[in-house]
Amino acid sequence: MESPGKTQKPHAICIPFPTQGHINPMLKLAILLHHKGFHITFVHTEYNYNRLLQSHSGAAALALSPEFQFATITDGLPPPEKCAAANSTQDIRSLCLSTRKNCLAPLNELIGKLNCHTPAVPPVSCVITDIIMGFALDAAEKIGVPGVLLQTPAACELMCYESYLKNGHLDTPIDWVPGVIPLRLKDFVDFAVQTTDPQDPMLDFVVQEFDRSSKASAIIINTFDELEKNVLKALSSICPPIYAVGSLHLLLNQLPENNTLKHMSSSLWKENPACLSWLDSKPENSVIYVNFGSIVVLTRQQLNELAWGLAGSKKNFVWIVRSDLVRGENDALPVEFWEEIGDRGFVAAWSNQVQVLNHAAIGGFLTHCGWNSTMESLCSGVPMLCWPFFSDQRLNCRYVCEEWEIGMEIGGDVKRDEVVFLVRELMDGEKGKMLRKRALEWKKKAAEAVDGSSSRNLDRLIGEVLSV
Ligand code: UDX
Repeated sequence: MESPGKTQKPHAICIPFPTQGHINPMLKLAILLHHKGFHITFVHTEYNYNRLLQSHSGAAALALSPEFQFATITDGLPPPEKCAAANSTQDIRSLCLSTRKNCLAPLNELIGKLNCHTPAVPPVSCVITDIIMGFALDAAEKIGVPGVLLQTPAACELMCYESYLKNGHLDTPIDWVPGVIPLRLKDFVDFAVQTTDPQDPMLDFVVQEFDRSSKASAIIINTFDELEKNVLKALSSICPPIYAVGSLHLLLNQLPENNTLKHMSSSLWKENPACLSWLDSKPENSVIYVNFGSIVVLTRQQLNELAWGLAGSKKNFVWIVRSDLVRGENDALPVEFWEEIGDRGFVAAWSNQVQVLNHAAIGGFLTHCGWNSTMESLCSGVPMLCWPFFSDQRLNCRYVCEEWEIGMEIGGDVKRDEVVFLVRELMDGEKGKMLRKRALEWKKKAAEAVDGSSSRNLDRLIGEVLSV
């Protein structure tokens, strides 16, 4: 293999975990690196790439620069039942186990092809992989280039896992995670709480992935120094070098408008732009945005309680009801609901969330607290009503409500009266006003990080690791 000469661009191969909440931050990082002079190969699973082609009406929308290429590898899973609808949410557990088992060989093969001396493609000079796709570090090692991990959730999630796996117990109260605020058992990343079976293959997966992370050349996190100061400090003493480069979507916003990749969407669902024109007709801060990300599934009863809660609040709302939000059940909202809400509500299957959250009409966000949604809300100065379900969502919720004071929690078994009360409180109440004020303060700090620590950390990452 020819080593990258002075005239050759560095070439980063980027491998996201194949779900929306992991693809989005990896794509943003890849575009930023492309802007900094990198040649990029972005690796999708075949299944997701086909979904992207469908939701973006063909490959042309994705082929925006000869130096930013997409490649595909298999995820090793049979196509899900509803594959033809290009809308089905994949089973995360199967994806974790299957990617670990099946993706390394095709990745090595892909890197072999990329390194075949094509004049237009410089040799791969670094591998950037999702923290739960650690097998790709082996591919980096094989060709002798830096292997870097992207932690798409918060730094505190990584710290919780590291501490739990090191301690091997979950003594309560949970006040023993370095740099992390005191947690209730239910706030703790739920896999650790729920797994009681020592033979559970997911336990082995988690242990192995976190074990592997110590071998990385660096860990990139989509957070910013000011937001998770204490945790980042604690992490830096036990992990490979840490680079906090968040929020990636704000960093991307800073690129010049003539950058052809800046607005490239990675949505696996087709976005409905009509949300935005509907919002144009509404007064400032008058609309609550309701969205549960890409994986959460509601029961029919939860859907009903939420629908009637939103209707009963008498507030304007935009509600994203994914086609697979209520799995295997009839997700149609009742006719009486539509009659009741009239023009007060707009329901769509998918939105451009960052644009929606930045619309002046949005005054609150009812969210599942996925990390991307949390960051996007905080960076837009929008206070949250937190309805967390699984994974890191309860932990994020705890930080939102207790540490950053930009949200209120709504219980797990949600009833319509509670939705009515909390939506009104968030949108019009004294508590809501205080949360909005705090959210605007955090928005300012997030913007400062873009001009300050996060930009510096990205440059350091390039200088100290990726271009070496
Ligand atoms: C998952 C986990 O649930 C989450 O806890 C973890 O931190 C990342 O992986 P997901 O549930 O999809 O992610 O939530 P989230 O992290 O919020 O990511 C969803 C992404 O899709 C966000 O970037 C959001 O802007 C985007 N999105 C979502 C849209 O653009 N439009 C939509 O209508 C819905």
